[in-house]
Amino acid sequence: MHASNGRGAPGDVDPGQQPERLQDCRRCGLWRDATQAVARQGGRSARIMLVGEQPGDKEDLAGQPFVGPAGALLDRALQAAGVPRKAVYVTNAVKHFKWQARGKRRMHKTPAQREIEACHYWLEDELREIRPRVVVALGATALHSVMQAKAMALTPVLGQTLEHDGLAVIPTYHPSFALRAPDPEARQRAFEAIVHALGQAARL
Ligand code: URA
Repeated sequence: MHASNGRGAPGDVDPGQQPERLQDCRRCGLWRDATQAVARQGGRSARIMLVGEQPGDKEDLAGQPFVGPAGALLDRALQAAGVPRKAVYVTNAVKHFKWQARGKRRMHKTPAQREIEACHYWLEDELREIRPRVVVALGATALHSVMQAKAMALTPVLGQTLEHDGLAVIPTYHPSFALRAPDPEARQRAFEAIVHALGQAARL
């Protein structure tokens, strides 16, 4: 990991950079404090693309998306919806882990709009390459990036089938919300909403 003062060396970030390799990306400063960029998981023939927010602590270390607690919940939701994980393509709106230290722990920090925009370069590339039938946007960051609509609120469009550039987009809760919502009923409702969205995507 890069020992960072949060600013880095002058010139080590270039929002206009057009890197060929994800690991070389310097379009925003998040690479400095991350172990690595976390790429996608899933085959090119997948018809369903799941887009999360950004890798968490476990994903940053493993180099794979959704392998931590949110990933375990996502796996349960996929199973409940009857969708095999190997049939879906899984990626994130932002490819580097953004975090702040709390004691020895690295706590998730929500990415800034400029970081989401910088990383849209990679999502666009994935959408072009995979050409999924449907994208399930897991949470507001994914929704903003996929729809290219930074002010779009998640709640009013939850579970709807939206359209963007000829692509069907189904917004739902982020799995972390279903883990951390304050009461058990809210967690169960969020889990069911995710299962419903995944089922909806599979039926399209
Ligand atoms: N949360 C995300 O949005 N993506 C991951 O890969 C893991 C947790």
